[in-house]
Amino acid sequence: MEPINLHDYEELARQTLPGPAFDFIAGGAEDEVTLHANRTAWQRIQLLPRVLMDVSHVDTSTSVLGRRIGLPVLLAPVALQRLAHPDGEKAVARAAAAAGTVQVLSTMSSYTMEDVAAAGAGPKWFQLYCYRDKDLTRRLVQRAKAQGFEALCLTVDLPRLGRRERDLRNLMEFPPDVVPMILLTEMDPNHALPESGGPSPAEPPASLRNLSWEVIPSLTWADVDWLRSLTSMPLVLKGILAPEDARIALGHGVAAIIVSNHGGRQLDGVPAAIDVLPEIVEAVQGRVEVLVDGGVRRGVDIMKALALGARAVLIGRPYLWGLAAGGEEGVARVLAMLRAEFEMAMALAGCRSVSEVTRALVRGQ
Ligand code: FNR
Repeated sequence: MEPINLHDYEELARQTLPGPAFDFIAGGAEDEVTLHANRTAWQRIQLLPRVLMDVSHVDTSTSVLGRRIGLPVLLAPVALQRLAHPDGEKAVARAAAAAGTVQVLSTMSSYTMEDVAAAGAGPKWFQLYCYRDKDLTRRLVQRAKAQGFEALCLTVDLPRLGRRERDLRNLMEFPPDVVPMILLTEMDPNHALPESGGPSPAEPPASLRNLSWEVIPSLTWADVDWLRSLTSMPLVLKGILAPEDARIALGHGVAAIIVSNHGGRQLDGVPAAIDVLPEIVEAVQGRVEVLVDGGVRRGVDIMKALALGARAVLIGRPYLWGLAAGGEEGVARVLAMLRAEFEMAMALAGCRSVSEVTRALVRGQ
């Protein structure tokens, strides 16, 4: 099948990946109510296009945190991408750089920060999970700064791992070459990445396997302040849904907020991020940039997010599907499809630049 949209890439990935690996990426928490809402919410929003606007030139570029990007789509942090393809996060770095957008690298990356930074010269943010060992967090932040990461993205919706029942049912185990390399090399600088398909590598210590999912449940706003005191890098909070939390964040010097429900993988029963975006935008009064993710699968979804006040969106699973189906080329094609669809949506709605994508385009707003 020749994929013509992101849904086709999901289907290709389903055919390519072992079932449990596909389910690990595709799945959500418990009854997957929120996962489902992440798609249907976009479909309920209706657009009112303007006509006769001379759309012979349409510019999809914008900026996030002062950095120019080719399209308002960032690549969300996703753990252990070697599960999808041996080139994992390195292939994603190259595709993101080529598309001129930001890759947000997970703490749970299966390549080191150094490997990923060397693979693609595009702008990168580092997504941070905090563990009990504060010194580990400090070292991760320093390492990210040294490798040229431009922002820190603290994920705040995972005080513990959500209950993903597909993984429980599948007795999901990661292949031995799919390991959290950033954390492993932080514990043991000489830890070598095993070759995929090669001889069975030394197992990472069981303590690390556990640690990698054992984020610190006691994280509070005081830790946000502590992180800010560690570095001059802009701090982004990912996983805000309550407008009250967005208001509190304003008092803690954050540069941006990502409205997100972690792709429906944490608390099941929360709304789609796009449904609470307008309230959050209202709460922050333009004082910080607001981004949104969860279920973005079409160019029109990007348009709806921007119209409702988001600076940009992030995609998670769609680029993993591209990665699984075609490595770097697959990720590049997913980004190219989204860009083409967004450009088309802008033209059909009468918008020549992203600054013309305003609330007036959304019916009932
Ligand atoms: C994630 N997500 C995530 N978020 C994060 O902050 N750190 C992480 O390590 C991960 N890991 C991760 C793994 C997998 C397999 C998925 C699907 C998601 C959440 C991710 O950044 C993002 O919020 C969602 O994926 C967005 O929803 P869509 O685009 O996947 O629908």
